[in-house]
Amino acid sequence: MKQNICILGATGSIGTSTLDVIRQHEERFSVFAVAAHSNVERMVQICHQFQPARVVMGTESACEQVKNQCLGMDIEFTYGIEAMSNIAADPQVDQVMAAIMGFAGLAPTLAAIRTGKRILLANKESLVTAGSLFMQEVEKHGAVLLPIDSEHNAIYQCLPQFTEGARGEMLHHVEKVLLTASGGPFRELSKREMSHVTPEQACKHPNWSMGRKISVDSASLMNKGLELIEACWLFDVEPKDIEVVIHPQSIVHSMVSYKDGSVLAQMGNPDMRTPIAYGMAWPERITADVAPLDLMAIAQLDFFAPDYERFPNLSLAADAWYAGGSAMASLNAANEIAVDAFLKGQIGFLDIAEINSQVLEQSEIYSVTGLDVVFEADKIARKAANDLVKHKVYL
Ligand SMILES: NC(=O)c1ccc[n+]([C@@H]2O[C@H](COP(=O)([O-])OP(=O)(O)OC[C@H]3O[C@@H](n4cnc5c(N)ncnc54)[C@H](OP(=O)(O)O)[C@@H]3O)[C@@H](O)[C@H]2O)c1
Repeated sequence: MKQNICILGATGSIGTSTLDVIRQHEERFSVFAVAAHSNVERMVQICHQFQPARVVMGTESACEQVKNQCLGMDIEFTYGIEAMSNIAADPQVDQVMAAIMGFAGLAPTLAAIRTGKRILLANKESLVTAGSLFMQEVEKHGAVLLPIDSEHNAIYQCLPQFTEGARGEMLHHVEKVLLTASGGPFRELSKREMSHVTPEQACKHPNWSMGRKISVDSASLMNKGLELIEACWLFDVEPKDIEVVIHPQSIVHSMVSYKDGSVLAQMGNPDMRTPIAYGMAWPERITADVAPLDLMAIAQLDFFAPDYERFPNLSLAADAWYAGGSAMASLNAANEIAVDAFLKGQIGFLDIAEINSQVLEQSEIYSVTGLDVVFEADKIARKAANDLVKHKVYL
């Protein structure tokens, strides 16, 4: 039976890779529903190539524009976040690729979880901000959560019994989770040099081709900070159980070190179609058109400790985890505002971590008893971060 896929964030980098994997396996998967924010041109292309049954855009105007360029096609067009939640929860959908960028992905991802589907989780911000609720809902509704972030996908593959459901038992034998990071484009820059970098330089990742927000996060190591929190929620561990390892080649996607001295690593060329294909076909393996790994050509794999002084976001993420409750939502919100301001040229690169730190420090922490708490914490932190961007009082 063909699996119906819903792609939230279909026009983005992960969305594009997902469509590519589907195109390679048309006998197995079909694009049932797609959602994006405002990229009309790309969505029109997707409609013509894949003819989904349902399309949701972020705004009425974007929706109308797509609709007008797809006249005569049998597609239902709607707009808004509620409509995205509806397509994610549609009973005809078998798998949901959660690849909206940022906190905006939380509600539709949760809607999908509540229908007990297979969730391919790329949108790390939804798990970071609402982790406890998110994992409770996964458990309660029997959803199958497959991590798409290459590092978490690697860890998942290196915890074989974990993938079969014996979570606690497996973790008992684990010494450390080794979370790899490329170090980003500024790995070797001094703080002084980093103070002058441009958004274009920050978005030029040495190994991965990604959306602009995650590219900046990779450059500031906030991406690794978010991934640290993501790993804690996914694998029932704490930051002290995780060692971040800088590995510039991005060939080892992460590792698990066991108490008997074994270290399991998952390797491959840096191409998101590998974890996407893994998630979509799990527990089987399918082709993804990814070039086979040529270890002789690579010849050398390097590993270093991260520099927490030049990249303070990494420690901030661990602080937020240990602070608990809404602290992670506050940190994430501050970072989304700060990255956006950096991309618009309103602040410098180093100001991102400064804003994150100040907002985290000044945020009241609430126990996450419901989604309303997460949304409130997000709102307050966004305002605080916007004030800092505007008045630059952190300088
Ligand atoms: N790219 C990677 O290699 C990678 C790896 C691991 C994890 N991830 C995670 O995957 C997610 C997507 O990353 P990406 O690199 O694919 O980002 P991207 O290229 O910037 O794409 C983001 C997607 O989300 C949509 N979107 C943005 N804001 C939205 C909103 N308010 N409502 C609805 N849709 C919205 C965009 O639509 P428009 O195009 O219409 O704006 C686009 O389809 C992020 O959470 C990222 O951390 C990415």
